[in-house]
Amino acid sequence: TSPRAIRNFCIIAHIDHGKSTLADRMLQLTGVVEPRQMKAQYLDRMDIERERGITIKSQAVRMPWDCQGQTYAFHMIDTPGHVDFSYEVSRSLAACEGAILLVDAAQGIEAQTLANLYLAMEHELAIIPVLNKIDLPAAMPDKYAEELAHLIGCDSSEVLRVSGKTGEGVEDLLDRIVEEVPAPEGDAEAPARAMIFDSVYDTYRGVVTFVRVTDGQLGRREKIKMMSTGATHELLEIGVSSPEPEATDGLGVGEVGYLITGVKDVRQSKVGDTVTSAARPAESIIGGYQEPKPMVFSGLFPLDGSDFPVLREALEKLQLNDAALNFEPETSTALGFGFRVGFLGLLHLEITRERLEQEYNLDLISTAPNVIYQVTDESGERHEVTNPSEFPDGKIAEIREPIVDATIIVPAEYIGAVMELCQARRGSMDGMDYLSEERVEIRYTMPLAEIVFDFFDQLKSRTKGYASLNWQASGDQAADLVKVEILLQGDRVDAFSAITHRDHAYAYGVKMASKLKDLIPRQQFEVPIQAAIGSRIIARENIRAIRKDVLSKCYGGDISRKRKLLEKQKEGKKRMKMVGTVEVPQEAFIAALSSD
Ligand code: GTP
Repeated sequence: TSPRAIRNFCIIAHIDHGKSTLADRMLQLTGVVEPRQMKAQYLDRMDIERERGITIKSQAVRMPWDCQGQTYAFHMIDTPGHVDFSYEVSRSLAACEGAILLVDAAQGIEAQTLANLYLAMEHELAIIPVLNKIDLPAAMPDKYAEELAHLIGCDSSEVLRVSGKTGEGVEDLLDRIVEEVPAPEGDAEAPARAMIFDSVYDTYRGVVTFVRVTDGQLGRREKIKMMSTGATHELLEIGVSSPEPEATDGLGVGEVGYLITGVKDVRQSKVGDTVTSAARPAESIIGGYQEPKPMVFSGLFPLDGSDFPVLREALEKLQLNDAALNFEPETSTALGFGFRVGFLGLLHLEITRERLEQEYNLDLISTAPNVIYQVTDESGERHEVTNPSEFPDGKIAEIREPIVDATIIVPAEYIGAVMELCQARRGSMDGMDYLSEERVEIRYTMPLAEIVFDFFDQLKSRTKGYASLNWQASGDQAADLVKVEILLQGDRVDAFSAITHRDHAYAYGVKMASKLKDLIPRQQFEVPIQAAIGSRIIARENIRAIRKDVLSKCYGGDISRKRKLLEKQKEGKKRMKMVGTVEVPQEAFIAALSSD
């Protein structure tokens, strides 16, 4: 296809504003999916095909569209929705010339609407503002068209109004794409360059790599080269998804499609990398390539120690489809053998843990997640700390922690509540703008550690669910942080060590000590529980001693009952861990580590 007849675009929207439903209507109207095959959220349901072994998740769909006597090839490129994957969003946007900014006509602009819009503007995309769900009785299209027009600086009459549900306005939208999204430009004679914007592992076909060709062309059976690593691979198949995979002879300037090389590990075909021809390689890569960088670390331990090899194998398998996942073995006196795992964010952590538990049938315990700290000790040596156990003992010269730029959108009546929360989380305010009379965008710089865990839940509950949040990494800052340790009878319990701000250390210590006091059964001797910063004790609880002689209960009783009790006690022992001389039931660790 000639580049002049190509339009590459994405749909950007806040969650639930109707992206998938609109995509469905487009598939239907352009005729690539027949009405009788149509089902809701077609593109999200491609795993049905996976079972038949012909999967290619449609990260990019090619659709024909006739407008004013000419046939155009549209490539609709999907963008992952969550902040954890913002680098991948940015790569998807880099593969487009235009973006449909979709806003729910009953909700208005939300935080992800803004975040995505700013990203799209950074990539200099043509932006088509669209209000969706105009069929809803609660829709207020006039009001939100005004808001949207104000935001992007256009006239409110230019804001399209559609319903992904009924299809109203969608044909007009497709025509607008032809008119407003620029055709791709590139040098057809130059050495081939294509950017990878997604890469997925398929059990049957190995890694399927989604690319957008910028210059030259890639042909069938060609030998390709990954520019960040220099690795070369034979192309086994090249094609487009429409939305089922269709092999083609090649891909030219501006075209979007997939490559299959038979490699088995997505780390060999990384999002953001540039593919070129091995025979006639290009000189420079497209855009800056970034290694996926973990932001949050947590220890993962199998409840049953004998599952350790299963966990290792499972993590290795997940890594085939997740270039951002990294891990190394870790040993804990309390929890045994496990792994220290790095994640892009908390959602990434939760998804990974869920998959490990469901797909690999593992029972896991995860330690409190933490961010990466840069610690300089007194001798001037720097340590990158991803685990409280690596925190240097002795005097510290400086600790730096990662910070983020956070954007929160709320109805104006909640400004006070949001500011209070952000202040309590060590935020410093950068600014505030009214989007309309009653809705405000509030901007804060905050420590990542304060935002990454329960912040969003807190924000939601303090704003009756109305707030939306987005954030992005923005460097680091010096901070007054300390390592709090928990001691049982003088022995350190590594699983409970945490790096916290000095002001929060006391609260953490008291909370942990009292939790453990309730969770650990009384022993035959008194057990002090202490929280300490270095050698300074900041909190203390006591578990009082008992005479734990279960047999005395059945004094004179029959022997079988006695045996049963002994047996039960033995079973209980198996799930006990020894911390120094104290027996701690595994449940206590789990309960104490799970957030409250
Ligand atoms: P995520 O994939 O979760 O980000 O959501 P999405 O943006 O893809 O939204 P989706 O298409 O899943 O729609 C969210 C909800 O809104 C669903 O319940 C849809 O049925 C509904 N919905 C989407 N478009 C319309 C519309 O035009 N009118 C009405 N009434 N409902 C719609």
